Amino acid sequence: MKEPILKVRNIETYYGPIMAIRGVSLDVEEGKIVTVLGANGAGKTTILKTISGVMDPQKGSVVFDGQTIQKKDPDQIMRRGLSHVPEGREVFPFLSVYDNLMMGAYTRNDKDAIAKDLELVHDYFPILKHRGEQPAGQLSGGEQQMLSISRAMMSRPKVMLLDEPSLGLSPLLVKEIFGIIKRLNVEQGMTMLLVEQNANIALHTADFGYVLEVGRIVMEDTTANLLEKQDIQEFYLGMQDHGVRGKRRWKKRKTWR
Ligand SMILES: Nc1ncnc2c1ncn2[C@@H]1O[C@H](COP(=O)(O)OP(=O)(O)OP(=O)(O)O)[C@@H](O)[C@H]1O
Ligand SMILES: [Mg+2]
Repeated sequence: MKEPILKVRNIETYYGPIMAIRGVSLDVEEGKIVTVLGANGAGKTTILKTISGVMDPQKGSVVFDGQTIQKKDPDQIMRRGLSHVPEGREVFPFLSVYDNLMMGAYTRNDKDAIAKDLELVHDYFPILKHRGEQPAGQLSGGEQQMLSISRAMMSRPKVMLLDEPSLGLSPLLVKEIFGIIKRLNVEQGMTMLLVEQNANIALHTADFGYVLEVGRIVMEDTTANLLEKQDIQEFYLGMQDHGVRGKRRWKKRKTWR
């Protein structure tokens, strides 16, 4: 089996005296989408921040592309090919859409390749071409999410970390953005670690999933298997009463007739 491109081993991360991540291990294989599901406060953002160097773990290791990266600077980690799309998008509101995209390429000087990548971004997100001159702060939430993903693409990452791309978006937009995320994976071979509260869309997009509860991984499996598990259906997909029981009741009534 091929070595995973990203290996997280037993990390513990604290906010002051509070232990937010309690010994988390996970693998991301090249070419896959891996998701971490968890409720508010489970520690999803903290895991991504620990991987991308925004926070240092007190214990454990992060190995990316064969090199140990825990406790390295976010900038160094980014240059090695790991790009973080943060929670809440964090675009530069007063810079134009175009300049925001170019900020994503600030570590590069291969002009022609940058121009090609900009074209690629515009193919996936045509709206960003039409709005190129507009300040990013004037974009809608969904468009800012697209910009944030595109800015990360402009660094030509080997792995992209995505923090809740569904946050605050309408169901229709969530579907659209996840459709593009999947296309980037299938067509461009982009490897992704996606953390989400929206278990339904994440499980239908990713290949493998981890379930995080209060800083610990409590379940891991292929997304196909996770979708079949009853506790996932009950607690994360909200299919408790009506689904199964409703069907049973309906069957009973049929036999009465
Ligand atoms: N700056 C901070 N200072 C202290 N505690 C924090 C800080 N940020 C997060 N925490 C705590 O760490 C834990 C994990 O938070 P984290 O933001 O990683 O969760 P999350 O799974 O991303 O949640 P959400 O779905 O709401 O984004 C929570 O208990 C949270 O209250
Ligand atoms: Mg979060």
